[in-house]
Amino acid sequence: MLEWYDAHARVLPWRVPPGSGEAADPYRIWMSEIMLQQTTVVTVKAYFERFTARWPTVADLAAAEDAEVMGEWAGLGYYARARNLLKCARVVVADHGGSFPNTEAELLTLPGIGPYTAAAVASIAFDQPAPVMDGNIERVMARLFAVEAPLPGSKPVLKAHATRLTPAERPGDHAQALMDLGATICTPRSPACGICPLMAACFARAQGIAADLPRKAPK
Ligand code: ADE
Repeated sequence: MLEWYDAHARVLPWRVPPGSGEAADPYRIWMSEIMLQQTTVVTVKAYFERFTARWPTVADLAAAEDAEVMGEWAGLGYYARARNLLKCARVVVADHGGSFPNTEAELLTLPGIGPYTAAAVASIAFDQPAPVMDGNIERVMARLFAVEAPLPGSKPVLKAHATRLTPAERPGDHAQALMDLGATICTPRSPACGICPLMAACFARAQGIAADLPRKAPK
């Protein structure tokens, strides 16, 4: 996965190119993950650029007026995210000296940061081996291990697989590689198994059922 990521990582405004030696900025990673929760990468890009141009650091954002931030958020929807964004920035400045905490447990205490965001920030910004689980990565795991049990009941099994696969070395790049794989190759419909770096290891591919997984429990 890391070799594939080094060659094929998507270029995204919050992302540090693999091999560049630059450190990821926790503020930028956090903001991107909050924006990406219910919004597509294509839409988020422009908002992310405007937010970080206007408020380059968490201290700048914490000092903003509520109405300025809500105005800049207009169009992204789910406005609780914007209110929590500002709340979180202010807590980071007031209680953490303006630096995001670097553990999943501490990140979870911040406004608007749930299990997904805590793992994503710990992993991508601080290179901690926290398994990041979102819909894309669940799908990749369900296929790789041909997990036939339906979602959502299969979530713990999928997370166990992801945990086992998370490397001690470059866990953040590993997580981003899985995100990219899920977004570009291991797509919900018509996965591009022929060009997948995990093709030889994928049990669903071997059984010809990749496109059928993950199964979903009837509502
Ligand atoms: N979707 C959610 N988080 C992402 C990230 N860090 N990179 C690409 N897509 C994402």
